[in-house]
Amino acid sequence: MTYTSIQDIDFSEKKVVIRLDLNVPTRNEQVQDSTRIERIIPTLKMILSKNPKYIVILSHLGRPKPQLHTMWDKDNSLAPITTVLQKLLNLPVVFTNKPIGAELYQYLNSLPNNSIILTENIRFYNGEEENSNTFSQALSQLGDIFVNDAFSCSHRKHASVVGITKYLPSYAGLCLDEELHALKDVLINPKHPVIGIIAGSKVSTKIDLLLNLLNKLDYLFVGGGMANTLLCAQGYKIGKSLVENDYLDIAKTILQKAESSKCRLILPTDVVVAKELKPNTSAKIVDINMIDNEQAIYDIGPKTIEKLRSILQLCKTVLWNGPVGVYEIPMFAHGSTAIAKTITEYTKLKKLISVAGGGDTIAVIAKDITNFTYVSTAGGAFLEWLEGKTLPGIKALDLQK
Ligand code: 3PG
Repeated sequence: MTYTSIQDIDFSEKKVVIRLDLNVPTRNEQVQDSTRIERIIPTLKMILSKNPKYIVILSHLGRPKPQLHTMWDKDNSLAPITTVLQKLLNLPVVFTNKPIGAELYQYLNSLPNNSIILTENIRFYNGEEENSNTFSQALSQLGDIFVNDAFSCSHRKHASVVGITKYLPSYAGLCLDEELHALKDVLINPKHPVIGIIAGSKVSTKIDLLLNLLNKLDYLFVGGGMANTLLCAQGYKIGKSLVENDYLDIAKTILQKAESSKCRLILPTDVVVAKELKPNTSAKIVDINMIDNEQAIYDIGPKTIEKLRSILQLCKTVLWNGPVGVYEIPMFAHGSTAIAKTITEYTKLKKLISVAGGGDTIAVIAKDITNFTYVSTAGGAFLEWLEGKTLPGIKALDLQK
């Protein structure tokens, strides 16, 4: 990481273009979870404290197809975010649906100093996902300085993340910087022993992640549906459990790699099984070699939880991604809840550095979010970074030096 953080930048009288990730869940034009918005408030406040001419915010929401200005769809409009942003900043925020171009540039220049402007969904434009030079240049004409505070979008080679950095001096926001430091603390220079708890439904989506982690960690626990494919590759009969049969060979490669690495791969030794996946179904705890043909695995069992607890007690760092059971159904949420409880207990005692993130993980730990050392709000970017990939948005900031 060689980028420059905004802390070292003079923003006085500057027109600041900032890329944020305001892609938050909304229903009936109401924001359902504002965690991502809360996280970027310190960056906006810091820039404002340095008296800029204005801050113009770029973000996407959802995955709309590019469309003509006159046809912009309301469902993917960023307009409802304005109220939440205003409330959290305790300052007025102007929303504009003027398209990027001369009229908008002129409008921005007419505003009083220190104004904050939110523009409409950047994915309504053709040039955004194409990372087009013309569009990147048009974006750069919005200001004098560019700030990327959207770590969670930095795996996208888009104009508002990458292209614009060719045309403006570009810096890292506080939230992006904090995210990368947390990830470095867990993978690049962690306190050992380090355990990864990786779960989720499909091993096919996390092959690169598992292979990379086997090189870096001391323990790797695999749970959720992903573990089924590995257990099946080990020869266990796992009944009707979800298995990716096309990935059994890759699962065997992962198992072999684990044998030859210093990392200890741990799979469930007992599980919660049921004949049907529905609330209040009749469920049983069984050892992994006792599953009958009619049953499927929906959670990890108490012996596995106990084993994980004892390993967590030995470890100094934990990385957690993905629920280990079907946590949406309370009777199959015990494994995930027990892990969250143990991690927060040791984190509070300062025995453990805990980093969690990606997709459903935040929903599982919602109650305990403040008791983790760091919880990433990123999905795809978090996983790609852990896979060892270079994120184009971060590389673009690094290249500025
Ligand atoms: C996310 O929610 O992970 C980011 O906002 C990126 O969204 P995307 O996957 O649609 O690019």
